[in-house]
Amino acid sequence: MKNSERPIGIFDSGLGGLTVFKELRSLLPGEDLVYFGDTARVPYGTKSAEAVLSFSKEITSFLLGKKIKFLIVACNTASSLALEEIRKLSPVPVMGVIQPGAEAALKAVSAGGRVLVTGTSATVNSRAYSRALAGAGRGIKVTEKACPLFVPLVEEGWCSKPAAALTAREYLAPFRGKADVLILGCTHYPLLKKVIARVMGPRTKIVDSARAAAVSARNELAGLGLLNRARRGRSEFIVSDAPDRFSELAFKLLKIRTGRVAVKRF
Ligand code: DGL
Repeated sequence: MKNSERPIGIFDSGLGGLTVFKELRSLLPGEDLVYFGDTARVPYGTKSAEAVLSFSKEITSFLLGKKIKFLIVACNTASSLALEEIRKLSPVPVMGVIQPGAEAALKAVSAGGRVLVTGTSATVNSRAYSRALAGAGRGIKVTEKACPLFVPLVEEGWCSKPAAALTAREYLAPFRGKADVLILGCTHYPLLKKVIARVMGPRTKIVDSARAAAVSARNELAGLGLLNRARRGRSEFIVSDAPDRFSELAFKLLKIRTGRVAVKRF
């Protein structure tokens, strides 16, 4: 099999990375995609760096066993805490979601502008977005805000219920009118984009790290000569627990039909 014909591996702590999967599927219809969701150990956002690193390494080894050509860490928390270590372990190129999200934000903001990063507690505490944005040297003022209740709201399928609007107001109303760009720095948050945008008001641009990651993956694969355009790509889904719930939520939240979901326990 040619290198370009091998699948792309994607992993997340659970189903949130499906927002990246969905963007990738529409941008790269010819690719085979293998998605792993660590549903037995989600959430990562409240765990220690050591735990997230150890889970990420296990999943990387598992996906490498599937002969992938490229790995996407479609979890902001794992990208913040484990990306460098995963790269050391992997013979294939590895991409995280922080750098693409930060680059998309930099395109949307002028020098000296204000960026608000939202994410899990672990992502915010790691300051990974702040570092990526400061690296551009454009004097961007960055504030980071953890919004830990967003993940369970999404997993409950409550994205358009009053509870979602109430929670978004509680976390973000103090920043209304005070950010030029808001980064959705967690894979679940694109599903709350409407309620978040409503709280922030019309002057704040919302940057979706899932979309940015998919575009960046396509560009990187093209640069490496690894794009596969030959035919209609297949999708494979594997989780560490509760495959039926994963499949139901994938359809309910993102209209993704997973078919049979396999289970791999560590
Ligand atoms: N996938 C995680 C992220 O993007 C959110 C869910 C979790 O806490 O595991 O940060």
